[in-house]
Amino acid sequence: MRAGVRSWLRRGGLAGVGIFAALQLVRPTLGNSDLRAEASMAPEIGQTLESSCYDCHSNQTNLRWFDEIVPGYWLVVRDVNDGRARLNFSELGHLPPPAQRAALYEALNQVRHGAMPPSQYLLLHPDARVSAAQEKAWENALALPAGAVAGPVEVTVASPRPRGTVAAAPNGIAFPDDFVDWVPVSMTDRFDNHTVRLVLGNPVALRAIAQGQIRPWPDGASFVKAAWSAGNEGARLVQIELMTKDARAHASTEGWGFARWRGEALVPYGKDASFVEECTGCHAPVKNHDFVYTMPIGRGDGSDVWNAEAALPAGLSVDPSGWRAIGASFVGNDGAGGSMTTKFGNDAAVAHARGSDTGAYPAGAILARVTWSEQADREWFGARIPGAPRSIEIVRFSAGDGGKVEPAYESFDGTSAARTTPADASVVGPLIQAIVGAPLAR
Ligand code: HEC
Ligand code: HEC
Repeated sequence: MRAGVRSWLRRGGLAGVGIFAALQLVRPTLGNSDLRAEASMAPEIGQTLESSCYDCHSNQTNLRWFDEIVPGYWLVVRDVNDGRARLNFSELGHLPPPAQRAALYEALNQVRHGAMPPSQYLLLHPDARVSAAQEKAWENALALPAGAVAGPVEVTVASPRPRGTVAAAPNGIAFPDDFVDWVPVSMTDRFDNHTVRLVLGNPVALRAIAQGQIRPWPDGASFVKAAWSAGNEGARLVQIELMTKDARAHASTEGWGFARWRGEALVPYGKDASFVEECTGCHAPVKNHDFVYTMPIGRGDGSDVWNAEAALPAGLSVDPSGWRAIGASFVGNDGAGGSMTTKFGNDAAVAHARGSDTGAYPAGAILARVTWSEQADREWFGARIPGAPRSIEIVRFSAGDGGKVEPAYESFDGTSAARTTPADASVVGPLIQAIVGAPLAR
């Protein structure tokens, strides 16, 4: 190597050291404070948060010497400021208790998915990894006491507002007026926060499910999640949420347009379009499922994106998959781990159910009531989703000899599809009445 080049390299190296030293003076501040308004929580959760999360999600950031070196320091400050802005455990205590609880559930679920603490942070702070034992202790501290779960809760699929009267969300996404005609994809109960939910899919989503092409979801696929409160006074609509896929139009929010409407009045949620950060932040752990938490019911390809346990058996006289839902019910405390039921209708049945409050369905109408045992949702600690089907009951209306329309009842075992229809008419009558849910007489 020529001497000139060598001395140039040496001078360059020295200049680099000089710049490096000078840069250490460019230090944005990281306000730490002792003001604590911590939430009330089990001590085992508090200890885990302190050792694994406080550096970025509290006012007590404890930087190690290597965190203090620029340019790494700049990244650390950005992470801490971003982390605090999203979630600050030092200020959680200012929120009402249900919101504090919700934050601890969300935090646990981020940990269970391996999304938090961030992997690049764990490289330098390996002790911050949440151990399996810490995770278990956190779950136990949040779990509901046995027998605390509630139900039955019954919901009806209907829009509380006339078509065309609901305002768009602050990010411009329109309310899906036709969501009542979308088809059930799954259901969840969260008796820990007293809500039950139905997830409905639009025709594009259903076609993708039928074709097994759900990861990623095609453009045009949309989901609605409708949530009801499960209080003693009956179910009340809490909110309707929408995710609609368009990889290009919604590139800045993971390819999905997110929107939420609150209450029976369906008031658009969010002061401005930045509300979506809540949605994308909480859906981030299921990035590998194209940001969708729900596992559609179906045999699928055996991968973990399908809820195969809940698939209906072959051999039923009527397969209601792909039918619209009239309503659903949830029972948390049936002594057998809880159950969930969807009442499906064919077109004639849905049209009648929405236009009349009698049980006098027309000839040709078919109702199908499917009851699943509940299972824990592996994607979200605290949620329960359909497990093995328990039973499928069919009520079919047809005109008898005299032209009078009569219902006929059949039932099937949820696993084997074996016929379980009782022979005794005095047993069948009340079963029909329970499914129809309204006086049978005209
Ligand atoms: C190195 C800093 C850092 C650490 C340590 C860290 N986080 Fe985060 N966290 C962030 C940042 C930055 C965000 C926001 C951007 C993102 O989602 O990546 C975030 C987002 C979150 C969110 C989503 C908040 C929202 O509504 O968008 C939750 C929940 C969360 N973290 C929980 C935790 C928990 C629990 C721990 C400890 C087990 C933890 N984090 C540790 C930096 C951190
Ligand atoms: C605290 C975490 C959290 C936040 C915040 C959140 N979601 Fe979700 N979302 C979930 C979970 C978990 C599910 C799965 C269904 C269930 O458990 O009820 C879900 C399901 C959905 C679904 C059904 C499709 C799917 O992904 O399963 C839609 C639509 C949806 N969310 C929209 C939104 C919108 C819009 C926002 C923001 C306004 C939002 N979500 C914010 C956790 C969250």
